[in-house]
Parts: sequence; C-alpha cells; structure tokens
Amino acid sequence: MPKTVFLGSDHAGVALKAALVAHLQAAGHDVADLGPAEAKSVDYPDFAKLVCRRVLDTPGAAGILVCGTGIGMSMAANRMPGIRAALCVNEYLARMTRLHNDANVLCLGERVVGLGLAASIADAFLATDFEGGRHQRRVDLIESCGLAAPI
Ligand code: RB5
Repeated sequence: MPKTVFLGSDHAGVALKAALVAHLQAAGHDVADLGPAEAKSVDYPDFAKLVCRRVLDTPGAAGILVCGTGIGMSMAANRMPGIRAALCVNEYLARMTRLHNDANVLCLGERVVGLGLAASIADAFLATDFEGGRHQRRVDLIESCGLAAPI
C-alpha cells in the first residue's frame, strides 16, 4: 500500500537519499525529500528533527533518515518522544522492527549498505504492518522509559 514517506539525510547520506527518493516514487509512494539538496557539510540532528516532526504530525507516515553509518541519525531520532527509529542493515531487521516495534523511522548508513540492499530494506519496512497484541504493551513501555526514575 502506498505510504507518505519523509526523507532526510546529512552530507554523507545525500546520494543514497536521492536514489531512495527515485525508487520510492517509482513504487508509488508519496515522497517528500526534506533535504539537504547537496553534499555540503551539515549536522544530522537538524535533519533528524525535521523528518521526525513531520512523521509525528502525519498519521500513518514513515520517515527515512540516512547518514554515513545511520547511527547518529538513529540516536538523534530516538530522543524524540513518539519516534521509534530503527537502524537496519538487512530486510529481516526492517520487517521485524515493523512487526514487533512499530518503528516509524528507518535509519540507513550510506557507507554501510549499497543502493540495491537499501532499496530492499526500505521496501520491506514500508510493506510490513505492526502486529499489535502483546507488542503494543511493549511499545507503550518504550515511551515510559523516558519518564522513569533511574533504577
Ligand atoms: C559524517 O561524517 C558522519 O559522522 C555522519 O554521517 C554519521 O555517520 C554519524 O553518525
């Protein structure tokens, strides 16, 4: 089913982002590239914030964030309440994080995965629905981690 997808990157992810935009548009998704448009040095948390805000404001939407490793983007995105960002290096992880974690943002590393694999990971992520059930309780508990007093 076509989805609304917001994409962002830093300079180290701009080429993979552009390729994914073309791939996802061709697959029929409603795609918004939130930048950057060129490979000039930028700070990945700025683009993580941009994309995550749009994901939170748009019911049913997904985000895709690309940096060199995918790690910085996932760290930044996961600081935002309501965002569940998953750094995936294969299709299995992409499928499982949708099924069990209801991840709403996919993070990718341009220096880690090639375009073919990245496209398959994105396809698996966007095509898989959350399983719900016992996983809903655990997903709710993820949010409570941010509120909990230190043990
Ligand atoms: C940029 O050199 C690099 O640090 C960034 O893209 C990302 O990999 C950080 O986690």
